[in-house]
Amino acid sequence: MELEKTEIIRLLSDKQNQDDLFMQANIVRRQYVGDEVHLRGLIEFSNICRNNCMYCGIRRDNSQLKRYRMSEEELIDTARKAAEMGFKTIVMQSGEDVWFSRDVMCRIVEAIKKFDVAVTLSVGEREYDDYKAWFDAGADRYLMRIETTDKDLYHRLDPGMSWQHRHDCLMALKEIGYELGSGIMVGLPQQSVESIAEDLLYLKEIEVDMSGIGPFIPHPQTPLKDEAGGTLDLARRTMAVMRLLMPDINIPATTAMESLHPMGRILALQSGANVVMPNVTEGEYRKLYELYPGKICVDDTPLHCKTCIGAKIMSIGRKIGAGYGGHAGRLPHMMK
Ligand code: SAM
Ligand code: FES
Repeated sequence: MELEKTEIIRLLSDKQNQDDLFMQANIVRRQYVGDEVHLRGLIEFSNICRNNCMYCGIRRDNSQLKRYRMSEEELIDTARKAAEMGFKTIVMQSGEDVWFSRDVMCRIVEAIKKFDVAVTLSVGEREYDDYKAWFDAGADRYLMRIETTDKDLYHRLDPGMSWQHRHDCLMALKEIGYELGSGIMVGLPQQSVESIAEDLLYLKEIEVDMSGIGPFIPHPQTPLKDEAGGTLDLARRTMAVMRLLMPDINIPATTAMESLHPMGRILALQSGANVVMPNVTEGEYRKLYELYPGKICVDDTPLHCKTCIGAKIMSIGRKIGAGYGGHAGRLPHMMK
């Protein structure tokens, strides 16, 4: 659907009639991507990061955080167990931890592809040749949020980083052939509704295959600890407008939404979302990958999370996707 910026701003600001917006997004979701909810098993494999994003709990300068890095074997084993549990996509996410070199990641991707799963990487900004090598090793998708398209805001919040470079990385990923996932946070300090509207138009313009909206949740061990943060309602309105703008993309019900409300992901699935990314990381690592406080499921097991979200999905009359769940049924690499 084409929407003018002024109309997007109106929809994002209209709390009074937000239920109509959610209903509309739910109808469009059903019409374009159906009732299947695609599950992606999320492995948070390292909380070591070279960056210092002001909002992020695993930022370099958070000296109170115990750091961890899974070994290659541990990571592959976690993925194998997730595949055995029935996940058809494995998402590997970490801080920007360059210990995972081009070659190490290639080996990991090749090993995990043997489990007959789609592989998504989310390890931040790297060189073109890294992205290319990982794609050639079998990685199907890449997830990297642009966070905001307000460049001044971006540079204030991500010191030492360049908005243009992040954008260039997204373009490189697309050119190489990845299914491209991106997204933003809402409720950042000094982020306007106009700016969120521009973010949505940007995501449409770069033709993302997948896009997530996360409410910003202030972390007590970051410089933004006293900020207000985003609300579930604003995040849902943003997600619902995104569904209207890009009717057939994959949209996750994000973990941050559920961290603000016990039914956050279900509410999201009923206002435009069609993907959930249950955490399949094991043990203590779940707690240590603390991007924001109140993160859900930190004491649960992978199996518990899968069963729990599966039951919730079925309770609202939706079904778990049986396939790889690529955008419009496509996947960059042919799967058997
Ligand atoms: N390093 C990779 C990257 O930069 O794309 C992936 C990991 S990064 C921690 C994943 C996402 O967490 C970020 O893109 C950001 O949107 C989100 N995030 C970080 N801190 C957050 C916070 N305090 N509240 C909500 N989301 C947060
Ligand atoms: Fe590195 Fe957040 S500061 S992942």
